Amino acid sequence: MPDTFDRIIIGGTVWTPNGPVETDVGIRSGRIAGFGHLRSAKSEEVFDASGLTVLPGVIDSQVHFREPGLEHKEDLEAGTRGAALGGVVAVFEMPNTDPPTTSADAIDEKISRALGRAWVDFSFFVGASPENVPELEILERLPGVSGVKMFMGSSTGSLLVSDDKNVLRVLKSGSRRVAVHCEDEERLQERLDLVKGGAPVAMHAEWRDVETALRATQRLVRLAREAGRRVHTLHISTAEEMEFLESNRDIATVEVLPQHLTLSAPDAYERLGTLAQQNPPIRSARHRDAIWQALRNGVVDCIGSDHAPHTLEEKARPYPQSPSGMTGVQTLVPIMLDHVHAGRLTLQRFVDLTSAGPARIYGIAGKGRIALGYDADFTVVDLNAKKKIKNSWIASKSGWTAYDEMAVTGWPIATIIRGQVIMKDDEVLGQPIGSPARFTETL
Ligand code: DOR
Repeated sequence: MPDTFDRIIIGGTVWTPNGPVETDVGIRSGRIAGFGHLRSAKSEEVFDASGLTVLPGVIDSQVHFREPGLEHKEDLEAGTRGAALGGVVAVFEMPNTDPPTTSADAIDEKISRALGRAWVDFSFFVGASPENVPELEILERLPGVSGVKMFMGSSTGSLLVSDDKNVLRVLKSGSRRVAVHCEDEERLQERLDLVKGGAPVAMHAEWRDVETALRATQRLVRLAREAGRRVHTLHISTAEEMEFLESNRDIATVEVLPQHLTLSAPDAYERLGTLAQQNPPIRSARHRDAIWQALRNGVVDCIGSDHAPHTLEEKARPYPQSPSGMTGVQTLVPIMLDHVHAGRLTLQRFVDLTSAGPARIYGIAGKGRIALGYDADFTVVDLNAKKKIKNSWIASKSGWTAYDEMAVTGWPIATIIRGQVIMKDDEVLGQPIGSPARFTETL
């Protein structure tokens, strides 16, 4: 009796936990159900991946999709469509919306807005604030919640937990890993005069300098030890933080961004102006190179995009009225595959940083590797495709990317989520089937 599958993927090079294998993959009821030579199996649908590489579905664990309240910049439909077009199967969305996501009602609201409109699987962070500390323990365990996000320095939006007392209160409330934006608010305020009256945008990296980032990261780790709580340090941008974090791996995991690996000062500010403005800032090549070193040495656990869209009109305001952030969910895969092509990281490391890494950090259930019983999530890529990233390809409501006109080698050809092909050859297909991701530590 031949096996029966809903779909088989044939002819591809499949990236299993043991590395690349030439095998077909059988999918049943949205899960991976078989490997081997499956062409004689009964299957409704066949996906021909000949000449292509089938990677575990890429998970982007840091995006800002702006809904509710800031839909002129982005919304859950356009943001997740960009994710699908970029080869991303699941996104974790940040709480600095308007109102911020600080309550169970706000989480419910986001989940109901996403159902039927999200093209990829999703979950939402709860924002920590001094006011909601007593509820965090409950909130972090609600279904569809990725965990708690804490801003130690102010960025876009009103969320802020800046002083040791409140940071410690947050860390003592709950048990899941807390994701943290580490910039020291006191130092940011002390140095605001550097840019307040207007300044060249390159001053962004002076105002929000190395010490601003390092001080917050060191305070966080000290307080995390005091609280006995694991933390995840987001978008680490300096050589000094990497050196510090290397000796604190037992308590702190590390995220880096494609933009900190790809862009550097002063070139990025000269070429892109305020489009290069983001928090923490794009810094000099010394920091970019140290981030690469840390990535290769295993200090880095995952890559997120920090997709943070603002309209071109908003970005055209004179610095520092111009907002911080750039799009990224759609370009994460092509930019990083281009780095793979250039030999800056191996494909094995890319896979670890974009699927197994987020799964390990956040305790995602049933995603993050190509193995029997796991969700049939795949990012199918052509490692040799030569393409140009263009603004016209970007689905974000903001409509731009910092990589416009950049030539890359390596491109996402298909996005498969729980067995459904939702993107192929740069087009989304079918319906927005995104569902809440499941976690091992929720109720
Ligand atoms: O540049 C940034 N933009 N950094 C953040 O931390 C927030 C983000 C946003 O939401 O705009």
